[in-house]
Amino acid sequence: MTTQGVLRAQAQDGRGTVPLSTQVADQFPILKRRIDGQPLTYLDSAATSQTPQAVVDALVRYYTHYRASVDRGVYPLLLEATEAYESSRQAVADWLHSTVEETIFTSGATMSLNLVAQTWGRTNVGAGDVIVVTEMEHHSNVVPWQQLALEKGAKLRYIPVDDDGKLDLGGYAQLLELEPKIVAFTHVSNVVGTINPVADLVRAAHSAGAIAVVDGTQAIPQMPVDLREIDADFYAWSGHKVYGPTGIGVLHGRRSLLEEMPPFLAGGHMIKRVSDDSSTWTDLPGKFEAGTSAIAEGIGLGAAVRWVQEIGLERIRAHEQALTAELLSRLEGFPGIHIHGPHDASDRGGLVSFTLDGAHPHDIGEILGREGVCIRTGHHCAQPLMRRLGIAASARASFAVHNNGADIDRFMAALQSVRRVLEL
Ligand SMILES: Cc1ncc(COP(=O)(O)O)c(C=O)c1O
Repeated sequence: MTTQGVLRAQAQDGRGTVPLSTQVADQFPILKRRIDGQPLTYLDSAATSQTPQAVVDALVRYYTHYRASVDRGVYPLLLEATEAYESSRQAVADWLHSTVEETIFTSGATMSLNLVAQTWGRTNVGAGDVIVVTEMEHHSNVVPWQQLALEKGAKLRYIPVDDDGKLDLGGYAQLLELEPKIVAFTHVSNVVGTINPVADLVRAAHSAGAIAVVDGTQAIPQMPVDLREIDADFYAWSGHKVYGPTGIGVLHGRRSLLEEMPPFLAGGHMIKRVSDDSSTWTDLPGKFEAGTSAIAEGIGLGAAVRWVQEIGLERIRAHEQALTAELLSRLEGFPGIHIHGPHDASDRGGLVSFTLDGAHPHDIGEILGREGVCIRTGHHCAQPLMRRLGIAASARASFAVHNNGADIDRFMAALQSVRRVLEL
């Protein structure tokens, strides 16, 4: 699709002829920045998104207007902070069709996944048990299970990924015959962009008697997610990839499991009664939220969720899919390029990973960076997948709601500079 095509697709989204990116770009203060006199072309939202003014305002208002702790007092400032913080939780729960009791605030997806491994995992996994993950996981959905397997003498098995970057479902069926205790997989790959059939994978895991843990970190910012339909036992994600602050994330858990699990961290806020020798735990979700909460970040996350809801994830998905389709087609004829992952934009999230013959991804990133084009390079915290793809690293461009065809034009021009500088 050409830039004009992208603009036409955007214009047809029912809200007039102004492209979505134009409607929202002004709301991101950072996009006014120039890098060595050139516009900022931010194509690294899969690593961390930029922040709209509405979220910055929510943070500033908390710090300047009603900063106080939450839940531990009765004075007006504290009540205001508690109300704002808990209304964020409610907004998150409503958005994804979860409940407040099943919506635990953590520091991010990494902590959410570690929480499950260290509590449900340590209680329920024993020697010889099988844990299944996929070859396309981010390290945060591999290493916690690896540690658990090492500690308990359990076995970690990987669902293979095919040459198109999709899960080998036959291989999955075979692994389920081992009757695993846990199956953990990503909703959307952060490297190849593959959108996995999560509801089907969860159903199959349940039929085999396993619990299903889904890493939703890359899905939440870019597509509608209904947790009732997915029916995972645990679903983890991070706020900073969905236009929210850093330092806040979420773990959604099935209530019956959360209730029987031991707490993760122990200390203030998570107790009901502390006697000299033992303690009892407070109700959900507080049982898993020891210590002073990330209050500003939680409030900022609520602002981010409301901001995204106002735009609508269907529109965001259509916009980013059109940009991805255009980038894929423009890269196709580029000399020496190898695109990793599904070739159809409808099968992948809004990102494209690639390698270029004769160019180290690090050099690509640096040359693009000089022209104000920000992309991610490296192993993307997915070394098992890098091994499967037979590469050490790749370059990755990823989209957000504020990107447009001009960003792709600047990216392509900068890629030509790579060929020139490296004399390819
Ligand atoms: C698919 C996926 N899972 C998990 C994570 C870890 O997220 P965080 O570092 O915010 O905990 C990331 C971050 O890049 C990711 O892309």
